[in-house]
Amino acid sequence: MLRSALLTLCLAAMLPGAVPTFSHDVAPILYKHCASCHHSNDIAPMSLMTYQEAKPWAAAIKEAVATRKMPPWKADPHVGKWSNDPSLSAAQVATVKAWVDGGKPEGNPKDMPKMPVFQEGWHAGKPDAVFNITEVKIDGPAGSDEYRQITVPTNFTEDRWVISAELRPGNRKVVHHAHVFVVDPPDPNAVAKPKSAPVHDPVKEFAAWTKVKSDNLLVVRPEAPVINDGCAVDDNAVFPGTVKSDLGSLLSSYLPGREPDVYPEGTARLVKAGSKLNFSIHYARSGKPETDITSVGLIFAKEPPRTIARRIDLSNHMFMIPAGATEHEVTECHTFQKDMLITSLTPHMHLRGKSMKMELTYPDGHTSTVLYVPEYNFNWQITYRTADPVYLPKGTRLKITAKFDNSKNNPTNPDPTRNIRWGEASESEMMDGWIEYIDAKSTAAPSTGAAAPHQ
Ligand code: HEC
Repeated sequence: MLRSALLTLCLAAMLPGAVPTFSHDVAPILYKHCASCHHSNDIAPMSLMTYQEAKPWAAAIKEAVATRKMPPWKADPHVGKWSNDPSLSAAQVATVKAWVDGGKPEGNPKDMPKMPVFQEGWHAGKPDAVFNITEVKIDGPAGSDEYRQITVPTNFTEDRWVISAELRPGNRKVVHHAHVFVVDPPDPNAVAKPKSAPVHDPVKEFAAWTKVKSDNLLVVRPEAPVINDGCAVDDNAVFPGTVKSDLGSLLSSYLPGREPDVYPEGTARLVKAGSKLNFSIHYARSGKPETDITSVGLIFAKEPPRTIARRIDLSNHMFMIPAGATEHEVTECHTFQKDMLITSLTPHMHLRGKSMKMELTYPDGHTSTVLYVPEYNFNWQITYRTADPVYLPKGTRLKITAKFDNSKNNPTNPDPTRNIRWGEASESEMMDGWIEYIDAKSTAAPSTGAAAPHQ
Protein backbone atom coordinates (compact mmCIF):
# COMPACT_ATOMS: atom_id res chain seq x y z
CA MET A 1 0.00 0.00 0.00
CA LEU A 2 2.54 2.49 1.20
CA ARG A 3 4.87 1.59 -1.67
CA SER A 4 2.27 2.09 -4.33
CA ALA A 5 1.12 5.29 -2.66
CA LEU A 6 4.69 6.52 -2.73
CA LEU A 7 5.05 5.48 -6.36
CA THR A 8 1.93 7.39 -7.28
CA LEU A 9 3.30 10.40 -5.42
CA CYS A 10 6.59 10.15 -7.27
CA LEU A 11 4.85 9.88 -10.59
CA ALA A 12 2.63 12.77 -9.76
CA ALA A 13 5.68 14.85 -8.92
CA MET A 14 7.49 13.83 -12.07
CA LEU A 15 4.64 14.11 -14.53
CA PRO A 16 1.99 16.32 -13.01
CA GLY A 17 -1.40 14.96 -13.88
CA ALA A 18 -1.24 11.27 -14.46
CA VAL A 19 0.47 8.17 -15.70
CA PRO A 20 1.80 8.75 -19.23
CA THR A 21 -0.26 7.19 -22.00
CA PHE A 22 0.81 5.37 -25.12
CA SER A 23 -0.97 7.73 -27.49
CA HIS A 24 0.18 10.98 -25.91
CA ASP A 25 3.60 10.19 -24.46
CA VAL A 26 5.08 6.90 -25.60
CA ALA A 27 4.19 6.74 -29.31
CA PRO A 28 6.11 9.97 -30.10
CA ILE A 29 9.24 8.43 -28.53
CA LEU A 30 8.82 5.14 -30.40
CA TYR A 31 8.18 6.90 -33.72
CA LYS A 32 11.25 9.08 -33.39
CA HIS A 33 13.73 6.59 -31.88
CA CYS A 34 12.54 3.07 -32.68
CA ALA A 35 10.21 2.96 -35.68
CA SER A 36 12.96 3.18 -38.33
CA CYS A 37 13.79 -0.47 -37.54
CA HIS A 38 10.64 -1.57 -35.70
CA HIS A 39 8.14 -1.40 -38.57
CA SER A 40 7.01 -4.36 -40.62
CA ASN A 41 9.54 -5.94 -42.98
CA ASP A 42 12.55 -4.20 -41.54
CA ILE A 43 15.53 -5.47 -39.55
CA ALA A 44 13.89 -5.63 -36.09
CA PRO A 45 11.91 -8.75 -35.21
CA MET A 46 8.68 -6.89 -34.38
CA SER A 47 6.79 -3.77 -35.34
CA LEU A 48 6.12 -1.21 -32.58
CA MET A 49 3.94 1.17 -34.59
CA THR A 50 0.58 0.75 -32.85
CA TYR A 51 -0.66 0.29 -29.30
CA GLN A 52 -1.75 -3.28 -30.11
CA GLU A 53 1.73 -4.09 -31.41
CA ALA A 54 3.69 -2.41 -28.61
CA LYS A 55 1.61 -3.49 -25.59
CA PRO A 56 2.72 -7.17 -25.47
CA TRP A 57 6.34 -5.95 -25.62
CA ALA A 58 5.95 -3.36 -22.83
CA ALA A 59 8.13 -5.13 -20.24
CA ALA A 60 10.85 -5.84 -22.83
CA ILE A 61 10.69 -2.23 -24.05
CA LYS A 62 11.15 -0.92 -20.52
CA GLU A 63 14.11 -3.24 -19.99
CA ALA A 64 15.66 -2.41 -23.37
CA VAL A 65 15.50 1.35 -22.85
CA ALA A 66 16.52 1.24 -19.17
CA THR A 67 19.64 -0.79 -19.98
CA ARG A 68 20.21 1.35 -23.10
CA LYS A 69 20.32 -1.78 -25.24
CA MET A 70 17.84 0.04 -27.48
CA PRO A 71 18.07 2.07 -29.60
CA PRO A 72 21.47 0.55 -30.44
CA TRP A 73 24.29 3.02 -29.87
CA LYS A 74 27.68 2.05 -28.54
CA ALA A 75 29.65 5.29 -28.09
CA ASP A 76 30.63 6.36 -24.56
CA PRO A 77 28.22 9.25 -23.92
CA HIS A 78 30.99 11.27 -22.22
CA VAL A 79 33.08 11.46 -25.39
CA GLY A 80 32.06 13.48 -28.44
CA LYS A 81 28.74 14.80 -29.75
CA TRP A 82 27.07 13.00 -32.64
CA SER A 83 24.44 14.16 -35.08
CA ASN A 84 22.98 10.65 -35.43
CA ASP A 85 22.89 9.74 -31.72
CA PRO A 86 19.45 8.15 -31.30
CA SER A 87 19.74 7.69 -27.51
CA LEU A 88 16.75 8.51 -25.33
CA SER A 89 17.09 11.29 -22.77
CA ALA A 90 16.77 10.36 -19.10
CA ALA A 91 13.30 11.98 -19.14
CA GLN A 92 12.21 9.82 -22.08
CA VAL A 93 13.44 6.66 -20.33
CA ALA A 94 11.48 7.74 -17.24
CA THR A 95 8.34 8.28 -19.34
CA VAL A 96 8.55 4.78 -20.85
CA LYS A 97 9.17 3.29 -17.41
CA ALA A 98 6.27 5.18 -15.84
CA TRP A 99 3.95 4.09 -18.66
CA VAL A 100 4.81 0.41 -18.14
CA ASP A 101 4.75 0.61 -14.34
CA GLY A 102 1.50 2.55 -14.46
CA GLY A 103 -0.34 -0.26 -16.26
CA LYS A 104 0.40 0.54 -19.94
CA PRO A 105 -2.65 2.76 -20.56
CA GLU A 106 -3.50 3.47 -24.18
CA GLY A 107 -4.92 6.96 -23.57
CA ASN A 108 -6.95 8.76 -26.18
CA PRO A 109 -6.21 7.44 -29.71
CA LYS A 110 -6.84 10.99 -30.94
CA ASP A 111 -3.57 11.99 -29.23
CA MET A 112 -1.55 9.67 -31.48
CA PRO A 113 1.16 11.46 -33.47
CA LYS A 114 1.22 11.13 -37.23
CA MET A 115 2.54 7.70 -38.13
CA PRO A 116 5.90 7.97 -39.89
CA VAL A 117 5.87 6.73 -43.48
CA PHE A 118 8.69 4.48 -44.62
CA GLN A 119 9.75 4.08 -48.19
CA GLU A 120 9.48 0.33 -48.70
CA GLY A 121 12.97 -0.91 -47.96
CA TRP A 122 14.79 2.43 -48.43
CA HIS A 123 15.94 4.21 -45.27
CA ALA A 124 17.56 7.29 -46.81
CA GLY A 125 14.60 8.22 -49.01
CA LYS A 126 13.51 7.35 -52.53
CA PRO A 127 16.58 7.03 -54.75
CA ASP A 128 17.01 8.95 -58.02
CA ALA A 129 18.69 5.92 -59.58
CA VAL A 130 18.78 2.23 -58.62
CA PHE A 131 21.36 -0.26 -59.91
CA ASN A 132 20.65 -3.98 -59.57
CA ILE A 133 22.99 -6.90 -59.95
CA THR A 134 21.86 -9.70 -62.24
CA GLU A 135 20.25 -12.49 -60.23
CA VAL A 136 22.67 -14.65 -58.22
CA LYS A 137 21.83 -18.25 -57.27
CA ILE A 138 23.15 -19.42 -53.90
CA ASP A 139 23.00 -23.13 -53.16
CA GLY A 140 24.95 -25.60 -51.03
CA PRO A 141 25.35 -26.59 -47.38
CA ALA A 142 24.16 -24.21 -44.67
CA GLY A 143 26.80 -22.31 -42.74
CA SER A 144 29.34 -22.05 -45.54
CA ASP A 145 30.10 -18.73 -47.21
CA GLU A 146 30.44 -17.51 -50.73
CA TYR A 147 31.95 -14.28 -52.00
CA ARG A 148 30.90 -12.71 -55.31
CA GLN A 149 32.20 -9.73 -57.29
CA ILE A 150 29.72 -8.30 -59.78
CA THR A 151 30.20 -5.25 -61.98
CA VAL A 152 27.30 -3.13 -63.21
CA PRO A 153 27.67 -0.15 -65.60
CA THR A 154 26.17 3.19 -64.50
CA ASN A 155 25.79 4.37 -68.12
CA PHE A 156 26.24 7.91 -66.76
CA THR A 157 26.92 10.26 -69.65
CA GLU A 158 27.84 13.10 -67.29
CA ASP A 159 29.56 13.37 -63.89
CA ARG A 160 27.13 12.95 -60.99
CA TRP A 161 27.36 14.16 -57.39
CA VAL A 162 25.97 11.61 -54.96
CA ILE A 163 24.64 12.73 -51.57
CA SER A 164 23.40 9.35 -50.42
CA ALA A 165 24.16 5.76 -51.36
CA GLU A 166 22.18 2.89 -49.90
CA LEU A 167 22.96 -0.76 -50.48
CA ARG A 168 19.87 -2.91 -50.19
CA PRO A 169 20.20 -6.67 -49.90
CA GLY A 170 17.79 -8.52 -52.20
CA ASN A 171 17.56 -11.55 -49.93
CA ARG A 172 18.33 -10.88 -46.26
CA LYS A 173 18.45 -14.64 -45.57
CA VAL A 174 21.72 -15.01 -47.49
CA VAL A 175 23.31 -11.55 -47.88
CA HIS A 176 25.56 -11.25 -44.82
CA HIS A 177 27.24 -8.08 -45.93
CA ALA A 178 28.13 -6.21 -49.09
CA HIS A 179 30.13 -3.28 -50.40
CA VAL A 180 29.82 -1.28 -53.59
CA PHE A 181 32.86 0.45 -55.11
CA VAL A 182 33.03 3.00 -57.91
CA VAL A 183 35.33 1.99 -60.76
CA ASP A 184 36.44 5.16 -62.57
CA PRO A 185 36.55 5.14 -66.37
CA PRO A 186 40.09 5.01 -67.80
CA ASP A 187 41.75 8.46 -67.58
CA PRO A 188 42.54 9.60 -71.15
CA ASN A 189 45.22 12.01 -69.82
CA ALA A 190 47.02 9.41 -67.73
CA VAL A 191 50.77 9.38 -68.33
CA ALA A 192 52.33 5.92 -68.38
CA LYS A 193 54.84 5.48 -65.54
CA PRO A 194 58.45 5.01 -66.69
CA LYS A 195 59.24 1.30 -66.41
CA SER A 196 62.66 1.82 -64.83
CA ALA A 197 61.35 3.64 -61.72
CA PRO A 198 61.30 1.39 -58.62
CA VAL A 199 57.71 0.46 -57.97
CA HIS A 200 56.51 0.26 -54.38
CA ASP A 201 53.18 -1.48 -54.54
CA PRO A 202 51.88 -1.99 -50.97
CA VAL A 203 48.92 -3.99 -52.18
CA LYS A 204 51.19 -6.53 -53.87
CA GLU A 205 53.59 -6.59 -50.92
CA PHE A 206 50.75 -7.23 -48.51
CA ALA A 207 49.33 -9.91 -50.82
CA ALA A 208 52.59 -11.83 -50.42
CA TRP A 209 51.67 -12.40 -46.76
CA THR A 210 48.15 -13.58 -47.50
CA LYS A 211 46.61 -16.68 -48.93
CA VAL A 212 43.22 -17.41 -50.43
CA LYS A 213 41.20 -19.94 -48.49
CA SER A 214 38.80 -22.46 -49.99
CA ASP A 215 35.91 -20.00 -49.58
CA ASN A 216 37.74 -17.49 -51.81
CA LEU A 217 38.47 -15.15 -48.91
CA LEU A 218 41.86 -13.70 -48.04
CA VAL A 219 43.61 -14.39 -44.76
CA VAL A 220 47.08 -13.45 -43.46
CA ARG A 221 49.38 -16.48 -43.31
CA PRO A 222 50.35 -17.77 -39.84
CA GLU A 223 54.06 -17.24 -40.58
CA ALA A 224 53.66 -13.56 -41.55
CA PRO A 225 55.46 -11.07 -39.27
CA VAL A 226 53.40 -9.99 -36.25
CA ILE A 227 52.93 -6.28 -35.51
CA ASN A 228 50.36 -5.69 -32.78
CA ASP A 229 51.60 -2.21 -31.98
CA GLY A 230 51.09 -0.48 -35.31
CA CYS A 231 51.99 2.84 -33.63
CA ALA A 232 55.53 1.61 -32.98
CA VAL A 233 56.26 1.51 -36.72
CA ASP A 234 56.46 4.57 -38.94
CA ASP A 235 53.08 6.33 -38.86
CA ASN A 236 52.97 6.91 -42.54
CA ALA A 237 54.59 3.72 -43.76
CA VAL A 238 52.24 1.86 -45.96
CA PHE A 239 53.99 -1.45 -45.41
CA PRO A 240 55.13 -3.39 -43.49
CA GLY A 241 52.80 -3.53 -40.59
CA THR A 242 49.92 -1.39 -41.45
CA VAL A 243 47.89 -0.33 -44.38
CA LYS A 244 46.33 3.07 -45.03
CA SER A 245 44.09 2.63 -47.95
CA ASP A 246 42.52 5.42 -49.89
CA LEU A 247 39.16 3.77 -50.16
CA GLY A 248 37.87 6.84 -51.91
CA SER A 249 36.20 4.44 -54.30
CA LEU A 250 34.07 2.66 -51.69
CA LEU A 251 30.62 4.17 -52.08
CA SER A 252 28.44 2.25 -49.67
CA SER A 253 28.39 -0.77 -47.38
CA TYR A 254 25.65 -3.00 -46.06
CA LEU A 255 26.79 -4.42 -42.74
CA PRO A 256 24.85 -5.66 -39.71
CA GLY A 257 23.17 -2.65 -38.11
CA ARG A 258 24.74 -0.12 -40.46
CA GLU A 259 22.75 2.86 -41.74
CA PRO A 260 22.91 4.08 -45.37
CA ASP A 261 25.86 6.22 -46.44
CA VAL A 262 24.51 9.77 -46.32
CA TYR A 263 27.13 12.47 -46.77
CA PRO A 264 27.09 15.60 -44.61
CA GLU A 265 25.09 18.64 -45.74
CA GLY A 266 26.91 20.53 -48.51
CA THR A 267 29.20 17.61 -49.39
CA ALA A 268 28.90 14.86 -51.99
CA ARG A 269 30.79 12.02 -53.63
CA LEU A 270 31.78 12.29 -57.26
CA VAL A 271 30.81 9.49 -59.64
CA LYS A 272 32.33 10.26 -63.03
CA ALA A 273 30.65 9.74 -66.38
CA GLY A 274 31.30 6.22 -67.63
CA SER A 275 31.98 4.80 -64.13
CA LYS A 276 31.05 1.26 -63.23
CA LEU A 277 29.82 -0.05 -59.89
CA ASN A 278 31.58 -3.07 -58.46
CA PHE A 279 29.47 -5.03 -55.95
CA SER A 280 31.36 -7.24 -53.54
CA ILE A 281 28.84 -9.46 -51.75
CA HIS A 282 29.40 -11.92 -48.93
CA TYR A 283 26.74 -14.61 -49.00
CA ALA A 284 26.08 -16.99 -46.11
CA ARG A 285 24.36 -20.10 -47.51
CA SER A 286 21.05 -20.99 -45.89
CA GLY A 287 21.06 -24.68 -46.84
CA LYS A 288 18.23 -24.13 -49.33
CA PRO A 289 18.49 -22.90 -52.92
CA GLU A 290 18.15 -19.11 -52.76
CA THR A 291 18.31 -16.24 -55.23
CA ASP A 292 19.38 -12.65 -54.66
CA ILE A 293 19.16 -9.36 -56.52
CA THR A 294 21.04 -6.84 -54.39
CA SER A 295 20.83 -3.19 -55.42
CA VAL A 296 22.22 0.23 -54.61
CA GLY A 297 20.06 3.36 -54.60
CA LEU A 298 21.68 6.73 -55.24
CA ILE A 299 20.32 10.19 -54.47
CA PHE A 300 21.90 13.01 -56.48
CA ALA A 301 22.75 16.52 -55.30
CA LYS A 302 20.46 19.18 -56.71
CA GLU A 303 23.44 21.49 -57.11
CA PRO A 304 27.22 21.00 -57.04
CA PRO A 305 28.40 20.50 -53.44
CA ARG A 306 30.52 23.04 -51.58
CA THR A 307 33.11 20.38 -50.92
CA ILE A 308 33.96 16.79 -51.75
CA ALA A 309 33.23 14.05 -49.20
CA ARG A 310 36.41 12.02 -48.72
CA ARG A 311 37.35 8.91 -46.81
CA ILE A 312 40.48 7.24 -45.50
CA ASP A 313 40.62 3.82 -43.87
CA LEU A 314 43.31 3.12 -41.30
CA SER A 315 44.00 -0.53 -40.59
CA ASN A 316 46.44 -2.79 -38.89
CA HIS A 317 46.64 -5.95 -41.02
CA MET A 318 49.55 -7.66 -39.30
CA PHE A 319 48.30 -8.34 -35.75
CA MET A 320 47.98 -11.76 -34.15
CA ILE A 321 45.42 -12.40 -31.41
CA PRO A 322 46.59 -15.32 -29.28
CA ALA A 323 44.14 -18.16 -28.56
CA GLY A 324 42.29 -17.52 -25.30
CA ALA A 325 43.46 -13.89 -24.86
CA THR A 326 40.82 -11.90 -22.97
CA GLU A 327 41.94 -8.39 -23.83
CA HIS A 328 44.49 -8.36 -26.62
CA GLU A 329 45.56 -4.85 -27.66
CA VAL A 330 46.23 -3.82 -31.26
CA THR A 331 47.08 -0.26 -32.28
CA GLU A 332 47.39 1.78 -35.43
CA CYS A 333 48.52 5.39 -35.88
CA HIS A 334 48.46 7.91 -38.67
CA THR A 335 49.69 11.50 -38.94
CA PHE A 336 47.57 13.57 -41.30
CA GLN A 337 49.37 15.64 -43.90
CA LYS A 338 46.78 18.37 -44.46
CA ASP A 339 44.19 20.42 -42.57
CA MET A 340 40.93 18.55 -42.47
CA LEU A 341 37.55 18.25 -40.82
CA ILE A 342 36.37 14.84 -39.65
CA THR A 343 32.70 14.19 -40.38
CA SER A 344 32.38 10.59 -39.22
CA LEU A 345 34.23 7.69 -37.58
CA THR A 346 33.43 3.98 -37.88
CA PRO A 347 35.17 1.30 -35.83
CA HIS A 348 35.32 -2.02 -37.69
CA MET A 349 36.25 -5.36 -36.16
CA HIS A 350 34.66 -8.81 -36.29
CA LEU A 351 33.29 -11.18 -33.65
CA ARG A 352 36.21 -10.87 -31.22
CA GLY A 353 36.18 -7.05 -31.18
CA LYS A 354 35.75 -5.82 -27.58
CA SER A 355 36.42 -2.09 -27.56
CA MET A 356 37.90 0.66 -29.70
CA LYS A 357 39.27 4.08 -28.81
CA MET A 358 40.32 6.86 -31.19
CA GLU A 359 42.59 9.58 -29.79
CA LEU A 360 44.09 12.69 -31.35
CA THR A 361 47.41 14.31 -30.56
CA TYR A 362 47.49 17.83 -32.01
CA PRO A 363 50.70 19.45 -33.31
CA ASP A 364 50.87 21.56 -30.11
CA GLY A 365 50.95 18.36 -28.06
CA HIS A 366 47.50 18.41 -26.50
CA THR A 367 45.44 15.27 -26.77
CA SER A 368 41.76 14.47 -26.98
CA THR A 369 39.68 11.32 -27.33
CA VAL A 370 37.32 11.63 -30.31
CA LEU A 371 35.47 8.32 -29.99
CA TYR A 372 35.33 5.54 -27.43
CA VAL A 373 33.25 2.41 -27.94
CA PRO A 374 33.66 0.49 -24.67
CA GLU A 375 31.49 -2.48 -25.68
CA TYR A 376 31.92 -3.11 -29.37
CA ASN A 377 29.30 -5.35 -30.95
CA PHE A 378 29.75 -6.89 -34.40
CA ASN A 379 25.98 -6.78 -34.97
CA TRP A 380 25.93 -2.99 -34.72
CA GLN A 381 28.39 -1.57 -37.25
CA ILE A 382 27.57 2.01 -36.39
CA THR A 383 28.98 5.11 -38.09
CA TYR A 384 29.39 7.92 -35.56
CA ARG A 385 28.71 11.21 -37.35
CA THR A 386 30.21 14.26 -35.65
CA ALA A 387 27.66 16.90 -34.59
CA ASP A 388 30.20 19.55 -35.65
CA PRO A 389 33.11 18.52 -37.87
CA VAL A 390 36.26 17.95 -35.79
CA TYR A 391 39.10 20.16 -37.02
CA LEU A 392 42.51 18.52 -37.44
CA PRO A 393 45.40 20.82 -38.33
CA LYS A 394 48.10 19.29 -40.52
CA GLY A 395 50.40 17.14 -38.39
CA THR A 396 47.67 15.85 -36.07
CA ARG A 397 48.18 12.20 -35.17
CA LEU A 398 45.32 9.76 -34.75
CA LYS A 399 45.86 6.72 -32.56
CA ILE A 400 43.42 3.82 -32.74
CA THR A 401 43.49 1.26 -29.93
CA ALA A 402 41.46 -1.92 -30.37
CA LYS A 403 40.95 -4.68 -27.84
CA PHE A 404 39.96 -8.21 -28.75
CA ASP A 405 38.48 -11.00 -26.64
CA ASN A 406 39.56 -14.36 -28.06
CA SER A 407 38.59 -16.28 -24.91
CA LYS A 408 35.81 -18.75 -24.35
CA ASN A 409 34.02 -16.14 -22.21
CA ASN A 410 33.20 -14.20 -25.37
CA PRO A 411 29.83 -15.65 -26.42
CA THR A 412 30.30 -14.61 -30.07
CA ASN A 413 33.79 -16.16 -30.39
CA PRO A 414 33.65 -18.77 -33.19
CA ASP A 415 36.78 -20.57 -31.89
CA PRO A 416 38.79 -19.61 -28.76
CA THR A 417 41.48 -22.22 -29.47
CA ARG A 418 43.05 -20.54 -32.52
CA ASN A 419 45.56 -17.74 -32.93
CA ILE A 420 43.76 -15.22 -35.13
CA ARG A 421 45.21 -13.15 -37.97
CA TRP A 422 43.66 -10.56 -40.28
CA GLY A 423 41.20 -12.04 -42.77
CA GLU A 424 38.11 -11.24 -44.78
CA ALA A 425 35.89 -13.98 -43.32
CA SER A 426 33.86 -13.12 -40.21
CA GLU A 427 35.72 -15.89 -38.31
CA SER A 428 38.99 -14.03 -38.96
CA GLU A 429 39.53 -10.52 -37.61
CA MET A 430 39.93 -6.97 -38.84
CA MET A 431 41.11 -3.80 -37.11
CA ASP A 432 39.96 -0.73 -39.00
CA GLY A 433 39.01 2.86 -38.36
CA TRP A 434 37.03 4.29 -41.27
CA ILE A 435 37.25 8.06 -41.36
CA GLU A 436 35.13 10.37 -43.48
CA TYR A 437 36.36 13.93 -43.81
CA ILE A 438 36.42 17.05 -45.91
CA ASP A 439 39.38 19.27 -46.71
CA ALA A 440 39.41 22.13 -44.20
CA LYS A 441 40.10 24.85 -46.73
CA SER A 442 37.99 23.81 -49.67
CA THR A 443 34.91 25.96 -49.30
CA ALA A 444 34.68 26.89 -53.00
CA ALA A 445 32.61 24.62 -55.21
CA PRO A 446 34.97 21.92 -56.41
CA SER A 447 35.41 21.33 -60.11
CA THR A 448 34.97 17.71 -61.06
CA GLY A 449 38.66 17.43 -61.81
CA ALA A 450 39.51 18.33 -58.22
CA ALA A 451 39.19 14.83 -56.79
CA ALA A 452 42.80 14.92 -55.64
CA PRO A 453 44.25 12.01 -53.71
CA HIS A 454 44.05 11.82 -49.93
CA GLN A 455 46.34 13.14 -47.21
C1 HEC B 1 18.73 0.45 -35.73
C2 HEC B 1 17.58 -0.40 -35.62
C3 HEC B 1 16.82 -0.42 -34.30
C4 HEC B 1 16.37 0.65 -33.57
C5 HEC B 1 16.50 2.13 -33.90
C6 HEC B 1 15.71 0.10 -32.42
N1 HEC B 1 15.75 -1.26 -32.46
FE1 HEC B 1 14.98 -2.55 -31.08
N2 HEC B 1 15.77 -4.11 -32.08
C7 HEC B 1 16.41 -4.06 -33.29
C8 HEC B 1 16.83 -5.40 -33.67
C9 HEC B 1 17.56 -5.76 -34.97
C10 HEC B 1 16.45 -6.25 -32.65
C11 HEC B 1 16.67 -7.75 -32.55
C12 HEC B 1 18.09 -8.07 -32.24
C13 HEC B 1 18.52 -7.66 -30.88
O1 HEC B 1 17.79 -7.92 -29.89
O2 HEC B 1 19.62 -7.09 -30.78
C14 HEC B 1 15.78 -5.40 -31.66
C15 HEC B 1 15.24 -5.90 -30.46
C16 HEC B 1 14.44 -5.15 -29.62
C17 HEC B 1 13.74 -5.67 -28.47
C18 HEC B 1 13.80 -7.08 -27.99
C19 HEC B 1 14.94 -7.09 -26.99
C20 HEC B 1 15.19 -8.38 -26.38
O3 HEC B 1 15.82 -8.31 -25.33
O4 HEC B 1 14.85 -9.40 -26.96
C21 HEC B 1 13.06 -4.63 -27.90
C22 HEC B 1 12.15 -4.68 -26.68
C23 HEC B 1 13.36 -3.47 -28.68
N3 HEC B 1 14.18 -3.80 -29.73
C24 HEC B 1 12.86 -2.22 -28.41
C25 HEC B 1 13.29 -1.06 -29.04
C26 HEC B 1 12.91 0.27 -28.64
C27 HEC B 1 11.95 0.57 -27.50
C28 HEC B 1 13.57 1.13 -29.46
C29 HEC B 1 13.55 2.65 -29.41
C30 HEC B 1 13.72 3.25 -28.12
C31 HEC B 1 14.33 0.34 -30.39
N4 HEC B 1 14.15 -0.98 -30.11
C32 HEC B 1 15.11 0.86 -31.42
C33 HEC B 1 16.65 -2.92 -34.03
C34 HEC B 1 16.41 -1.62 -33.60
